Amino acid sequence: MYLLAKLIQNKQLKLLLRNCSTAAKANKKYAGELELLGKKYTTDDWTNLTPKIISKLDKNLHTRQYHPLSHVRQKIVNYFYKNFRNKCGNPTFSVCDNLPPVVSVYQNFDSLLIPKDHVSRSKDDCYYVNSETLLRAHTTAHQVELIKMGLDNFLVVGDVYRRDEIDSTHYPVFHQVDAVRLCVREEVFKNVCSSESLQLFEVKGKESEDKQAVHTLEAVKIMEHELKTVLVGLAQALFGSGIKYRWKDEYFPFTHPSWELEVFYNDQWIEVLGCGLIRHEILKNSGVNDRIGWAFGLGLERLAMCFYDIKDIRLFWSEDSGFLNQFRFDDPDTPVKYKPISIYPQLANDISFWLPVDTEYSSNDFYDLAREHGGDIIEQIKLIDQFTHPKTKKVSHCYRIIYRHMERTLTQKEASAVHRKIQEAAASELKVELRIK
Ligand code: PHE
Repeated sequence: MYLLAKLIQNKQLKLLLRNCSTAAKANKKYAGELELLGKKYTTDDWTNLTPKIISKLDKNLHTRQYHPLSHVRQKIVNYFYKNFRNKCGNPTFSVCDNLPPVVSVYQNFDSLLIPKDHVSRSKDDCYYVNSETLLRAHTTAHQVELIKMGLDNFLVVGDVYRRDEIDSTHYPVFHQVDAVRLCVREEVFKNVCSSESLQLFEVKGKESEDKQAVHTLEAVKIMEHELKTVLVGLAQALFGSGIKYRWKDEYFPFTHPSWELEVFYNDQWIEVLGCGLIRHEILKNSGVNDRIGWAFGLGLERLAMCFYDIKDIRLFWSEDSGFLNQFRFDDPDTPVKYKPISIYPQLANDISFWLPVDTEYSSNDFYDLAREHGGDIIEQIKLIDQFTHPKTKKVSHCYRIIYRHMERTLTQKEASAVHRKIQEAAASELKVELRIK
């Protein structure tokens, strides 16, 4: 009830719930209509949003003054402003950081040539508003609309939503930066002498590991070199000029060739970004026939966790002044390391149940349900045991839920109360059969 009241209070985000007595039930019964960021959507059997996720839609941590994610955004934007200027000295990259996160299936997938049967489209991985609309799973979802608007150099910054496991580095909402740069023939070959005969495109070319069929190898190699130089420069601007890095070949449906950049930080290799040359079909579909382009995408949380020594991703959502005040500075390059105010103990509680026999079940449904009822005091949920009964063939799952409050010590009594709520909700909403030891 508390959550429901809070949502209805919220002016920007009025949720219209019909025939529903509790927020938990609402999840399955957004019967009819749902209002998100002032717009109404019809719901259907794809709707799997939860009130907790909906409550994140208007948070905009990436543009909130003094928020650590906002500082990292500003560092990246500054790098592009500094390194790409036109003849008059003005920055050439446009920055879009307030595009609404509710997008169409076309924007998030089809426009990027993601196959109809691709796993990333599944209900189990995304938050769907209805069968045609979802919360964007990456900021790349806006690539085509911005290219269609005529932009050649742009950054998109925003919140993205993915159903996932829960641990100290995964949260169902996080933030990304995407970039696109498109160049005409003259720009690509501007530093090559006697380049008049060089072309971006060739007929009867073949796709290979190195290039798409339509592109010439010389255009691709110059773009690849620019992309990698820009991104190594960005990694150096962010992590320091001595940073060790490596490139790996990658695959994305919307770029070819594609790579991933990793940097060596705190004794381990970490993935920083994915990138590649934009599939020409995407540009053609957006009305661009005379350009070749590169794109990349990166996650802000992972970077901020490195720069500020933030060990738990939930902290980005904290309203605690003990956290926020440590980032109250204007210059995003201020070197700070987050000092945990204190470390509070964890409490582990297990839950075991038989999976339903005649309705669908996925672990992600349980993670969402637990998050709904436990909120941010859940630090981790792990599937620790699975078992199939030899006779009945019924399947049993056992999950360990680790509870920890970020700002104070949690008592076992408090944790048990939440745990019991989760057990009851799992039994009634997911139709599992509890195994109470
Ligand atoms: N959208 C990709 C992701 O979320 C990143 C990416 C963006 C890769 C643009 C290539 C080009 O992982």
